[in-house]
Order: sequence, then structure tokens, then C-alpha cells
Amino acid sequence: MRSFRLQLTLRFGLTMLLILLVTGAAWTVLLRVILYRQLDRTLLALAEVEALAGASASSSHFQFHEGVFLTEARHSPSELVRFAELWTDQSAPVVRSINLGQRDLPLPVDAMADARREIVGHATFKWEGARYRSIVYPLRLVGTLHAKHYLEVAGPLDPVDTTLWRSAAFAALLGVIGMMLAMGGAWWFARLATRPAQEIAAQAEAIEAGTLSARITAHAEVAEYHRLVAVLNAMLDRLDRAFQAQRRFVADASHELRSPLTVLKGDIDVALRRERGPAEYRAVLESGREEVDRMSALADNLLTLARTDSGLPPDRLQPVDLEQVVRRAVERSRVAAAEAGLDMTLDTSPTATRGDAGLLERAVGNLVENAVQYTPAGTRITVRCWTAEGCARVEVDDSGPGIPPEHAPHVFERFYRGDPARSRGSGAGLGLPIASAIAAAHGGALELVRARPGALFRLTLPAAAPA
Ligand SMILES: Nc1ncnc2c1ncn2[C@@H]1O[C@H](COP(=O)(O)OP(=O)(O)OP(=O)(O)O)[C@@H](O)[C@H]1O
Ligand SMILES: [Mg+2]
Repeated sequence: MRSFRLQLTLRFGLTMLLILLVTGAAWTVLLRVILYRQLDRTLLALAEVEALAGASASSSHFQFHEGVFLTEARHSPSELVRFAELWTDQSAPVVRSINLGQRDLPLPVDAMADARREIVGHATFKWEGARYRSIVYPLRLVGTLHAKHYLEVAGPLDPVDTTLWRSAAFAALLGVIGMMLAMGGAWWFARLATRPAQEIAAQAEAIEAGTLSARITAHAEVAEYHRLVAVLNAMLDRLDRAFQAQRRFVADASHELRSPLTVLKGDIDVALRRERGPAEYRAVLESGREEVDRMSALADNLLTLARTDSGLPPDRLQPVDLEQVVRRAVERSRVAAAEAGLDMTLDTSPTATRGDAGLLERAVGNLVENAVQYTPAGTRITVRCWTAEGCARVEVDDSGPGIPPEHAPHVFERFYRGDPARSRGSGAGLGLPIASAIAAAHGGALELVRARPGALFRLTLPAAAPA
């Protein structure tokens, strides 16, 4: 795994090294210019002094102030060593400073060319294994007697080069030390910067299934971490809610499955207490069968919920004639509606969607069943289906008493049942949640448009071109 801290430290250190090296290089270049200028100035000053002194003497009497021209003795500092030589226009030597002995200074061609144009020429050359700086001074600048003579003054570059090397080495050393300091600082800063994230992670880690109601509080007030903490807490909220819903669902489901089992067992126990006639056994078996029916319907409902909750696989999205589906769902409740003295009307137009026809029939069927179950005799139930604005819509509208305000917000909750006294059936409270889950799995929605007076449920699905 990559370490943010290590990366930050390396980058910071390298950046610092680069900055210091560039600064060091620039400084060394500047220092070189300064030192060369300084050397040139001292050479020029010396040349002027010697030129002025010799200006009135003829070339055979031209003499240098020999005391100034130290020999390269073992103990004399090389900064003070200077050589001088007088040249003719044809580059022939005339006079040498004594420390030159029989040797001639090299005469740089470019510097000589400058001097011929009455400009003081400058040059750098290598001579006898060392580097030298020299200037060529046209004596015409100090009088006409030596109009055709040129004075060359040279000094070793050794001291300048040594200073430059030392300065460069010092800059490099500073670069390395600076880099190490910067890396240390970055390492420390990175720890400081990543500590809140670690503390937030530690708090999040401590939150487990049992303590999902706990929230992260660390660094929530720090601007940079506020969002992270908020996002994590929102995620915990959702997890907590989902977890609680799941727990409630399992508890309700097992409770619902237990009551028919208890009834069944009670009936069997009573029947077994003594010998009974065939008719009595039959009655027990029939009531047992009812309980088994109820349990298998419940198991079926739970299975449908579990399946639709995880969404529909694409291969189950087939073109569906919704008008047909609505008609079939209504047909199934016709008899029950007639027995209860309800007036059920259909008002449909060709409507199509994509999905699972069986599931859609079940969703509409649940709405129709509810309208039949929870309304008194004489109620009008209207089932409509049509297409509008790219949506396929199904409405189940009844003129019954509707849903009381205390129940209305909860009717889509799993296992939620309204007032049982007003119902004709004894459901488990899964009809609306299943219809709603089916709608969601089809990319649609189920809503309670009107709760009172008379409930109006509307199922909205994406419309498809009629087959
Ligand atoms: N058309 C309606 N008129 C009045 N109340 C209704 C209507 N539809 C639903 N309800 C109320 O909403 C509650 C939840 O309905 P839902 O279909 O989810 O469960 P159920 O009918 O009680 O049980 P199940 O459908 O699982 O057999 C019902 O118990 C009922 O009180
Ligand atoms: Mg129902």
C-alpha cells in the first residue's frame, strides 16, 4: 500500500533540494561574475599604474615596479602573484617583469585585437598547468610615445576558482541539509495532517452492528473533515435504519408465521385428547388446512418481497399489456365485491409498460383487494388505467371511509395494519408494501393520492409502446 506520509515527505524533500540547488547554482554564477570583475579591476589598476609610470620612458628604458611582481614562492599567497609583459604591435616581447624570467606570457589573440582598437582586452587562458586571467592594455591610452605598444598584465585564477568551488560545495551541503530538515518537517506535518483521518477511522471502526446508533464526533468541526464526517454519519444513519427495519421485518415475519402454527397445534392437541368421530376429525383437518393456506400465502408474500427488493433481472422485463393485467386483477375480486355489495367499475384505455406481468397483476390485485376488504356495502370502486406524459398509470379509487390520518403515513410499512375491526379479511399488512416494492422494481412508484374520504392509490410506471 502506498503511504501518503512517505510520499509527502519525499516530494517535499526533493522540492526543497531542487530549490536549494537552483539557488546555490545561481549564487555561484553570480559570485563568479563578481570575483572575475574584481580580479579584472585589480589587473586594470595595476596596468594603469605601470602604463603611466612607463609612459614617458622609451621602450628600452621601460621598467616595471618590480617589487609588486612577486615570484611564485612557496609562501607567497597566489592571490598576490602578478605578471606583466610589454608587447609590440607585431606581438613581439619588449620588456618582462622579472618574475617571468625567460618565459613569455601567452598573448591572447582576441584581447590583443581589442587592444588594437584602443579597448582594454580581457582573456582567460591556461598556462603552465594553471588558469590565468589577463588584460591587454593599449599604451596609446596614456600618451603617444608608446602608440604601438601593449601592456599585458596577468594573475592566476586559482584563488578565484578555489573560492568558487568552496562556495558550490557549501551550497550543495546546504541543499542536502535543507532537504533532510524539510523531510523531517514534512514527516511531522504529514503525521499531524493524517491524524484526524486516523482518529475518524478509529471511531468508525468502533461502531458495530450493535452500536449502529452511535455517531462519529471526532473533528466534525474541522472544515477539511466536516464533509467526510457528515458523509460517514449519513451512511451510518442509513445503515442503522436499514438494520432496524431488517430486525423488525424478521421479528414480524416470525411472529406472523408463529400464530398460525400455534392455532394449528392447539387444534391438533384438542383433537387428540380423546377418540373422535370422522366428522370431528374432518373439521380439525379443514381448519388446519386454512392455517396452512395462510402460512403459505405469507411465505409467498415474503419471498416476493425478498425478490423484488433486490430488483428485477433484465430478462424479466417483457412488454406488458397493462390494460389486460388490470382487467384480470379486477376480475379476480369481482365475486368478493359482488358478495360484499360493492359496485366495481373499470375505466381503461390501451396502456403498455415493460416488466413482469405476474408481479404487476399482483400489485394491482393487492390494491383492488384492499378496496374490497376495507369498504362497507354500497361503496363505489373505480379502477382506471391510461397513459399520460410518458407514464402508464393505474388508479384504484373507492368511495369508502378511507384511511384515518393516524394510519395513512404508515400504510406502506411492512406488516403495518390499520384498524382490524373495520376489515373484512385478516391480512398480514404486506399487501401495500409488496405493491410498492413491485412498482419500485419496475422503475415506478405507488402513492396514496387521497387518504380520505375514500382511498385513492395511484401506481405510476414507465410507459412502453403498445404491442
Ligand atoms: N382502500 C382502503 N381503504 C381503507 N383502508 C385501507 C385501504 N387500503 C389499505 N388500507 C389500510 O392500510 C392497511 C395496510 O394495507 P395492506 O394491504 O398493506 O395490508 P393488509 O391489507 O392489512 O394485509 P394484506 O394485504 O397483507 O393481506 C390496511 O390494514 C388498511 O387498514
Ligand atoms: Mg391488503
